[in-house]
Amino acid sequence: MKKKKIAVLFGGQSSEHIVSCMSVANVAEQIDTEHYDLLLIGITEDGHWLKTASISDIRSGAWKESQTEAVLSPDATKQCIIITENGNTYEEKVDAVFPVLHGPFGEDGTVQGLLEMARLPYVGCGVLSSAVSMDKLYTKIIVDDLGIRQADYVPVMSWRMKKDMDGTIAQIEGKFSYPVFIKPSNAGSSRGVSKAENREQLIAGLEEAAKHDRKILVEEMIYGHEIECAVFGGGQKPVQSSGVGEILAAADFYDFEAKYFNEESRTVINPSLPGDAAERVRKAAEAVFNAVDGYGLARVDFFVTDDGEVIFNEINTMPGFTAISMYPMLWEAAGITKKELINRLIELAFER
Ligand SMILES: Nc1ncnc2c1ncn2[C@@H]1O[C@H](COP(=O)(O)OP(=O)(O)O)[C@@H](O)[C@H]1O
Ligand SMILES: [Mg+2]
Repeated sequence: MKKKKIAVLFGGQSSEHIVSCMSVANVAEQIDTEHYDLLLIGITEDGHWLKTASISDIRSGAWKESQTEAVLSPDATKQCIIITENGNTYEEKVDAVFPVLHGPFGEDGTVQGLLEMARLPYVGCGVLSSAVSMDKLYTKIIVDDLGIRQADYVPVMSWRMKKDMDGTIAQIEGKFSYPVFIKPSNAGSSRGVSKAENREQLIAGLEEAAKHDRKILVEEMIYGHEIECAVFGGGQKPVQSSGVGEILAAADFYDFEAKYFNEESRTVINPSLPGDAAERVRKAAEAVFNAVDGYGLARVDFFVTDDGEVIFNEINTMPGFTAISMYPMLWEAAGITKKELINRLIELAFER
């Protein structure tokens, strides 16, 4: 049987570019090379698409020096990557795409839209589920409808905040006492997220969040364990959820440093939680995944309070695959190796 060609996209234009570069090697090296050939394509932070020679070029960062351009054609009759090398242009057929991209322009329905245009199968959630899951404000609206508790919030539009900071502050302080959490509606890896203990920090937090998105959420502070659950499946296959994992952040909260660079941050698989809280997290994770019309995979994040209340935080439709990432670890704990997981995700792409 002829091998299928999988284009693996990584990097990307979001503030999570570096996280994607850390994730992708762990994905690409697990793809079953008996059945698939790989075409690695790195997207620079300013959006240039480059053919990447090898996984080691990703690890070393040498891919950024590639002189070979590789762009996806939206032409649905071709399903190809257009490669330009030494002044010569040619088309390379591909069978499916694995977008290992996090954040805006990757996990938010934009790349998924391009792939739909090209009629190429791809791993993970579709346009709508990617877009609503990326946008925390819209996820809130959907999850409210499910009756699952989540942090209470005030939406802030950056243009309104700039026009009337006093009114914005009054609205927030009228609803919450400090501390509060401030986050861009569209971002990830804690980029632009901050905790404010007072008005001064609130203003600084709003200004920081506004650098990432024109929509901002200010949330009540939730005191609880940070619990994550992995979801897999969709379409005609029933959705499955893994066990749960706990994040023990080596910082005041799970900020960017604590996530990827502080070796004191720990994760615990199947932590002890009050009563049947873990089971309720799993059920809620599946419900949120289905409600956003999820497909393929997602990691759904919660807080669990000491008295066992389950509070939804966010859903990530392309969770991290770094060496310390929870999504693959949760499946490994359930007896599914990284290799099985990645190749099952590719099979799901072809089934859609
Ligand atoms: N309402 C909240 N109460 C307490 N901690 C929060 C709250 N919102 C976010 N956090 C903390 O900030 C981190 C990042 O926020 P999150 O909403 O998960 O954004 P991101 O998409 O960047 O991961 C969380 O992992 C958690 O540690
Ligand atoms: Mg998060």
